[in-house]
Amino acid sequence: MRSIDLRSDTVTQPSPEMRAAMAAAEVGDDVLEHDPTMVRLEGRVAEQLGLEAALWVPSGCMGNLISLMLHLERGDRFLAPAQAHVLGSELGTAAWLAGGMPEALAWEAGPGRPSPAQVTKAAGSPGPYYTLRTKLLCLENTHNFAGGAVTPQAEHRALVAAARAANLAVHLDGARIWHAAAAQDLPASALTEGVDTVQVCLSKGLGAPMGSLVCGSKPAMAEARRIRKMLGGGVRQGGVVAAAGLVALDYLPRIPEDHAKIRALAEGLRGFGIAAPLPETNILLLPVPDAKAAAAALEAAGVRASIVGPALRFIAHRDLTEADIAEALRRLAPHARLLGAA
Ligand SMILES: Cc1ncc(COP(=O)(O)O)c(C=O)c1O
Repeated sequence: MRSIDLRSDTVTQPSPEMRAAMAAAEVGDDVLEHDPTMVRLEGRVAEQLGLEAALWVPSGCMGNLISLMLHLERGDRFLAPAQAHVLGSELGTAAWLAGGMPEALAWEAGPGRPSPAQVTKAAGSPGPYYTLRTKLLCLENTHNFAGGAVTPQAEHRALVAAARAANLAVHLDGARIWHAAAAQDLPASALTEGVDTVQVCLSKGLGAPMGSLVCGSKPAMAEARRIRKMLGGGVRQGGVVAAAGLVALDYLPRIPEDHAKIRALAEGLRGFGIAAPLPETNILLLPVPDAKAAAAALEAAGVRASIVGPALRFIAHRDLTEADIAEALRRLAPHARLLGAA
């Protein structure tokens, strides 16, 4: 039995078009001078996000780390929504390598979303010489561990304005910014307005085997390039993977299909008497009585989900069809109790 893998949108296989583009990629040495395919990818993403320049990096974690290193000096405080990826899922590199003192902001405005008033309050006013300096607001849209929650455009603007008023720089972890944009029927550039840096992933939902881009001003990206090299992230004939990234971008108009797939899963679960929340994007976070037991039973039934705290996380992606979702529901039906049905 083929298992239906809903653990993450990173489990996709490179498509045949992607593999063909990788094989045919025009390449150069991206560490010595720029690789031509990298240049094309960086230009296209910077334009799409409305920022001056972009830099390819191997992973989202490295993109966030480089951005934090750009903005922070050792001992500087940064603010981020509670359970942000940069706080709990990047091995503490924000502190270890970027030197940041993290402060998590509770979700007062909604799932995954702090309010502008919280930003103002947490940034504080300059205290005596021995107090922390708060330098950065790090946002996450969509917010992974809040179940792919979207920060609406107006709220994004208000958060950026609050940060600016408090002299904070703004970094956006936009691993799934295109999902946030698709959910609001907006161009992604509407959700990057006012940020200093943004990190976006090509390997989440879009199907690329690897790769993220950090975007910002030209001088910031020149410095980011130095930091990338310092971290061992400079690659030589990077055009091979950039070519896959360019093909991945062609999937952007189809993101709503993934939102519909996970919504169909949530609605099917509701039909079993399970109080599944209706997902905003491609992630369903389902609180269950015993996540470990439920995940194991599902795995045995041929449906893979990941455990996130007391919940199971299901994520739709391009390698799943509507028929796969229907089949997943058939396999989940006998386990409704474990999934929280009364
Ligand atoms: C919101 C968010 N940011 C950053 C990352 C890190 O990306 P990568 O796994 O490419 O390092 C992830 C990975 O799932 C993520 O969900």
